[in-house]
This record gives sequence, C-alpha cells and structure tokens, in this order.
Amino acid sequence: MVLVAGGVGTGKTTLCLEFLVRGAERGEKGLFISVTEASAKLMQNFSTFEFFHTDLVNNNLVTIVDLPIVYDRLGLNREELKPGEVDILVRTIQDLVRESGARRVVVDSLTSVGFRVRSEEKARDFILKLAQAFSELGTTSLMVAEVGAVPGVHSLYGVEEAIVDGVVMLSNVRRRGDMLRVLQIIKMRGTVHSRAQYVIELTPIGLLMAPFLKGGRLETA
Ligand SMILES: Nc1ncnc2c1ncn2[C@@H]1O[C@H](COP(=O)(O)OP(=O)(O)OP(=O)(O)O)[C@@H](O)[C@H]1O
Ligand SMILES: [Mg+2]
Repeated sequence: MVLVAGGVGTGKTTLCLEFLVRGAERGEKGLFISVTEASAKLMQNFSTFEFFHTDLVNNNLVTIVDLPIVYDRLGLNREELKPGEVDILVRTIQDLVRESGARRVVVDSLTSVGFRVRSEEKARDFILKLAQAFSELGTTSLMVAEVGAVPGVHSLYGVEEAIVDGVVMLSNVRRRGDMLRVLQIIKMRGTVHSRAQYVIELTPIGLLMAPFLKGGRLETA
C-alpha cells in the first residue's frame, strides 16, 4: 500500500491511472475507485493521453468505479457514515476488488472519503480497515492523499503515512515564475530507492521523470 501524497494538479490521478494501465499491459487487472471525479469525466480527460485506451476499460482490464454511486447503492448516508457503515464500505470495496479480479487498486482519494465520513476518528478507522483488507487481498494499492505544501506532512489523519509501505510525494515547485511538478519517494519498505527530487512531465506517452537540477530560488507553491 503506497500513499501518493500531493497538492492540487501535481499529477496524482495521472500517475495512478498510468500505474493501472502498465499493470493491465502486463496482465494484472486494475481497479480505480474514484471519489473526487465522476468516472465518465475521468475517462474523457484521460482520452487525451496516448497511453490510455478505452479498450482497457471495455475489456475489464481496468475497472473504474464511482464511490458516490456505491454509497447510493448501499443506501449509505453520503453526508455522514455511522460506525458500522465504515465496515460495510470496506467490505464493499473488498468485494469490488474480488469481482474485478484486480491485482492493482487505486483509491482517489482517501482525503475525499475522509471528508465524507466526517469525523477524523472514523476516517482513521476506515483507513486502518482498508489497509487490513488490501493486505488480505494481496493487492498493490495506491492511495491518493490531497495534502498541501506543508513540509514533512504527507497525510491528513496522521495514520496513513505510518501504516503504508511507501510514500510518494508530488509537489508544485515554483522556479523563476514557472511551476514545476516534482516527485520524491519518501519511503518504500523493503527496497533501496532514491530520495532525490525528480521533475516530472505529464506527456501523452505517460509520466516522464528527469533529475531536478538545482539552482535558482525555489519556493514550494
Ligand atoms: N493530454 C495531456 N498531456 C499532458 N498533460 C496533460 C494532459 N491532460 C492533462 N494534463 C495535465 O494534467 C494535469 C492534471 O493532472 P492530474 O489530474 O493527474 O493531477 P491531480 O494531482 O490528480 O489533480 P487534482 O488535484 O485536481 O486531483 C492538468 O493540469 C494538465 O496540466
Ligand atoms: Mg486528481
């Protein structure tokens, strides 16, 4: 379970979707649980990327699910979940993973689910139970966390960054008036990795990374 934490427009959704597409190309099915954007709009936005083909969705290699629709079907009150309903939600997500046969899962975003469940305590409960469910399912999952530009803060509820196996941070960095997207791996359990900053480019063929050349005055935006 890897947290993809970052500010607005830093490329979180693109990174996660490409992760599913690359998996599907290698025979691993993917499930995208969309909380913030309606799946139809998501597919429309991503049709401009060459790496994304709607065939992947039509052939069930990538399944996109709208969590608000799941809420409605379950008859859950969207405004505020009761304690027992957190369990129902986690079980439903588990069922969706099983039904889709997904080996890779994306939740975009944990922050939005947290807002829906309202209380921080319930959000923490949800995240811990979801982590447990994904660990039982044996999936590789990316959880999006919408966090601002506070240095060292990668989660909203304080539990995510500790329970996940990895944290990938995406940031907006201003350099001489231009806005750059920067990626940094903060932690990844069980592997040796770079902790350097990389400038990322969202291109039609996918996300490209280049070393972040230092110099000039930098500000985190
Ligand atoms: N076809 C494309 N080629 C290159 N870049 C694109 C293309 N389509 C969109 N983009 C870029 O992708 C950005 C959106 O990225 P993405 O949605 O992955 O970010 P995000 O971090 O998920 O944003 P949000 O905070 O809104 O959830 C757009 O602002 C635009 O700059
Ligand atoms: Mg997004």
